[in-house]
Parts: sequence; structure tokens; C-alpha cells
Amino acid sequence: MSVTVRVPAKVNVQLAVGAARPDGFHDLANVFLAVGLYDEVTVTPAEELRVTCEGADAEQVPLDRTNLAARAAIALAERRGIEPAVHLHIAKDIPVAGGMAGGSADGAGALLACDALWRTGASRAELLAICAELGSDVPFSLVGGAALGTGRGEQLTALEVGGTFHWVFAMAGRGLSTPAVFREFDRLTEGLEVPEPVASQELLDALAKGDADALAAAVSNDLQPAALSLFPELADTLATGRAAGALAALVSGSGPTTAFLARDARSAAKVAEALEASGTCRTVRTTSGPAPGATVLGGASA
Ligand code: C5P
Repeated sequence: MSVTVRVPAKVNVQLAVGAARPDGFHDLANVFLAVGLYDEVTVTPAEELRVTCEGADAEQVPLDRTNLAARAAIALAERRGIEPAVHLHIAKDIPVAGGMAGGSADGAGALLACDALWRTGASRAELLAICAELGSDVPFSLVGGAALGTGRGEQLTALEVGGTFHWVFAMAGRGLSTPAVFREFDRLTEGLEVPEPVASQELLDALAKGDADALAAAVSNDLQPAALSLFPELADTLATGRAAGALAALVSGSGPTTAFLARDARSAAKVAEALEASGTCRTVRTTSGPAPGATVLGGASA
């Protein structure tokens, strides 16, 4: 008996970052869009908690209790007073430490899979509360689609999306640590007045209309200067995609994955080809969004 859950990656079409709070986190206006790159988490009853991982980046994934999938299983089991005696297997397609919420996806996936396996009957609200405890981006991995995240990004308001957006993602040769990028943001903004983060109405309208040109004009990422400061070569990748006809080029979340919005699937293929030929990145993926949130595949099977 096992349960498999499929969970999407995300790109932040807007990431407005406020000043550091007393707890070290930053208030955000974080517009998430789920895209069609997925991890799959399979949970199977076992003697004790165990995590395994397959995929191109698998060797970079921690297999101990720091893995968000393990933490999710432990959090749900603790609330129900049971042992997290499961084998969690992650089939990883989302880049590791890439700014696409791959770790968060595994947390949300494991939570939903364990919930189905153990038939806990947890409400959506309880699952979302556990997600928020696990990390700022984990609730969005559960819900998918598009959403505005406020607070540290965990308080979600679903957003309407009026069409399909075509994206190209360029994965970098190494990862970037999210806390390190936020620390660099703090360093770069030291002594400056950091405004309250606010969602852009133009951007929300562009999403609602499904208008790629309008979305391209409105995307922004306040963490981009910090990511570029720690990883200057990303500027070459961004320039390559722009020159190949991307409507917009930006760092995805805390990076270092770079995201390119294309007018249509054909243009996306051209941008991908140019990025692949440029040698400025490790791998290139073409996909679209919005994508659905964490989904149980086929349900519990005997
Ligand atoms: O919430 P999560 O564990 O994903 O956050 C990872 C790190 O990113 C935090 O420890 C913090 O350094 C930084 N962060 C932040 N403000 C946020 C979200 C994350 O400073 N809103």
C-alpha cells in the first residue's frame, strides 16, 4: 500500500521584500505562479522513517530528518500521536536550491501523501497550518495555481489567471542558499528606507487577463540584485534569454534559476535553444503555468 503525490515548482512573478523583521524574516508581497515541473513523493509504510531520492540532483538532497518531506511526516504524526513509520521516496525533477520551491514541494507532497495513507481526516486549514510551520513557501506548494503570499509569504490569497503563460527556466551550475540571499538583501539595503511590500495591481490585472506582454512589463524581484551580487554570472544568462526574444527575464525567487517569459510555445523553444547553445547555464527546461497544486495520483493502492 502506497500513496504518490505530484507537486509543482513555482516562479515568483513578483517578489516585493520589506525590511527585516525582529524575528529575522521579511514581510513579503509574493506573487506565486505554479509551473509544470514536478516532484513526486511516494509514501509507503515502513519499520521506521526513511527518505530516498532519485533524479539528476538527487545527491544534493539531504536524506535525514532535516528534509522537509521527513519534517512534514513527523509534524503530522506528532499531531495524531502516531509514529511516522514510513518510507518517503522523492522522484526529483525540480532543481535543488534553485529558487523554485523544490524542498517546499517535497514537504507539501509528503504531508498530503501521509494524510491520505494514514486517513487522518485533517482539514485543508490544518494541512495549510502545518505547511506554514514547515516553511514560508510550503503552503503555496499545496495549493498551486497562482496566489499572493503576504506575511513571510505563507498567508495566501488565491489569484485568478486568465490564460496560460509560457516559461523557460535555466538551471545554474550551483545552488544559492535562501537565507544567504536574504542576508545579502539586508546588506545591500542597509541604511536605506525599505518600503512596505505591496502587490502590483498591473501585475494582478495581467495575470487575470492572461496577458503575457502586460505580465512581462510588470514582473519584479527585489531579491534579484542580491542573487546577482552573490552569483554575477547570472547576468549573462538573463541577457542571453532577452536577446533570444524573451518578453521578460528574471531570477526565480532567491535564485539562481533564471526564468524567461515567452509569448508562446514557439518563442519559448527559441529562447531555450539560445540558452542551451550559450553555455551560460547547466540545463534548460520549457514549461507553462499555472499548474495545479499537490495532487494525489491514483489514491491509495493495495
Ligand atoms: O521559511 P523558510 O524556511 O523557507 O525560509 C528560509 C529562510 O529564508 C529563512 O530562514 C530566512 O532567512 C529567509 N526568509 C526571510 N523572509 C521570508 C522568507 C524567508 O528572511 N519571508
